[in-house]
Amino acid sequence: MNAAIRAVVRTGIDRGFELYGVRDGYHGLLEGNLRPLAGRDVSGIIQRGGTMLGTARSPAFKTEAGLERAVQVISDARIDGVVVIGGDGSQAGSLALSNRGVPVVGVASTIDNDLAGSDVTIGVDTALNVALEAIDRLKVTASSLRRAFLVEVMGRGCGYLALAAGIAGGAEAICIPEQPVDPEHVAQEILSAYKSRKQHALIVVAEGASHDAAALMRYFEEHRDRLGFVIRATTLGHVQRGGTPTAFDRLLGSRFGAAAVEAYASGTHGVLVGLRRDSVTTTPLTDVVGKKKPLSAKLIELARVLR
Ligand code: F6P
Repeated sequence: MNAAIRAVVRTGIDRGFELYGVRDGYHGLLEGNLRPLAGRDVSGIIQRGGTMLGTARSPAFKTEAGLERAVQVISDARIDGVVVIGGDGSQAGSLALSNRGVPVVGVASTIDNDLAGSDVTIGVDTALNVALEAIDRLKVTASSLRRAFLVEVMGRGCGYLALAAGIAGGAEAICIPEQPVDPEHVAQEILSAYKSRKQHALIVVAEGASHDAAALMRYFEEHRDRLGFVIRATTLGHVQRGGTPTAFDRLLGSRFGAAAVEAYASGTHGVLVGLRRDSVTTTPLTDVVGKKKPLSAKLIELARVLR
């Protein structure tokens, strides 16, 4: 997100705009927590994860009174347009503001990669690489001890991170929310890996799968004598979110941030800046918010063939 903030500020200045940063997302907006941002204020952040502006969940913003207050703050501060960097919750807020007449441009950013309107979002590549590094390390222990490993990755209700990490990490089974999980089937995948003389067995499970890591472990424990394998579970959790942004994410953030300012400058509002077929595009927020981006069937099939 820092790359996007930096690009918004520097492209905006290049265009002759005056820029302000909002501390802590919608929560900070309600408090009027704005600060002017000059080109130098965004120096030295492109290599840092997270966001220099901070972020926060804001239940208050979702209420009618909260939205009215937000519009008032924007108008009192004489802000002409707002760039919102975030995932589906943030972009639902963008649409709500846009519906109240605020010129808003959204920027697609979430590690979950579940946002309609962008094939890939800021943060996905970094989170994926963090997950992969952990998986690669676990495989070393798995092979050395002939142990099975179960790794739970984030992604909310979307299986993209698990699917991509599973394919790139060479997993024997991948459990995603988009498909019902049969724990016995997963157990059989582990056993068949050992039967084919593999030294390790790796299962990647999405946190939103019908059976998460805890549920699968309970099943394996209940059937331990019959199954006969040793398995350990690792939940990566928030570790996935704080990684040093990859080159891909820095470029994506830079491109998205610049495109958001260009969109605003050309009068294109109420849209999400995203990447489609390798091009930076804008999609109306009405086609984004509340829409589900389907997981690629080709990727799911690839995972099945390669396991
Ligand atoms: O949406 C991003 C995400 O990291 C999800 O993958 C995860 O389920 C959630 O946020 C965690 O949110 P919190 O930090 O509020 O528990």
